[in-house]
Amino acid sequence: MIIGESGSGKTVLIRSMVGLNDIDTGEVLFDGRSFYDLNFSGKKEIRKEIGMLFQGGALFDSKTVEENVVFPLSMFTDLSESEKQDRANFCLQRVHLANANKLYPSELSGGMKKRVAIARAISVQPKYLFCDEPNSGLDPKTAIVIDNLIKEITEEYSITTVVITHDMNSVVENGDNILFIYKGEKWWEGNKEEILRTDNKEVQDFVYATKFMKEIKSKF
Ligand SMILES: Nc1ncnc2c1ncn2[C@@H]1O[C@H](COP(=O)(O)OP(=O)(O)OP(=O)(O)O)[C@@H](O)[C@H]1O
Ligand SMILES: [Mg+2]
Repeated sequence: MIIGESGSGKTVLIRSMVGLNDIDTGEVLFDGRSFYDLNFSGKKEIRKEIGMLFQGGALFDSKTVEENVVFPLSMFTDLSESEKQDRANFCLQRVHLANANKLYPSELSGGMKKRVAIARAISVQPKYLFCDEPNSGLDPKTAIVIDNLIKEITEEYSITTVVITHDMNSVVENGDNILFIYKGEKWWEGNKEEILRTDNKEVQDFVYATKFMKEIKSKF
């Protein structure tokens, strides 16, 4: 999980990791393969293994739910039309959206849009899943549903998942590896137990900014 204040550089980092921003220095390794050193076709091979959930959902408004989910399959696979259809149906069922195929994004609730975005991200059977604030704008209950869905899918298909979030519930619940970014730099790294005990001031200020989290702190 990647956390940090608004504007600290989380989206820039994740976009750099998936190859949407060019990097000035450093390298991005996918199981030892250095993404930015590869040629076009090498990069495309890795892109095929990546599912991405953009901040704000970013569904195609002029495409139906089904067409949104089929889109990466057309781009990255050689599946036939009927195979793509089957895969899209499978993914939509997986996110509990079986009857929404023909709807347009404008006809969906925020939580449904997130689920379509998840179905689209997993359509290519990714090895790596990147999610930029999958919970933003959702009520707490729906936020947990989306969290659990990402967690279940991650475990079920053995995906390496990177989630940017502002949701501290989600961090203390699911943060196996947490990276805290501060003013564009890696500032702290640890897990969900360590983050509640760290004496790093900036991390503490961030974590205990909400009343709910202050109450959790008082228990330690
Ligand atoms: N394409 C870009 N070109 C130049 N600067 C950018 C670009 N995208 C973002 N920035 C700048 O980089 C900094 C980090 O932005 P970023 O979007 O990564 O923040 P963030 O941590 O994702 O914030 P939020 O939590 O609000 O989404 C900001 O100062 C932003 O203005
Ligand atoms: Mg962002």
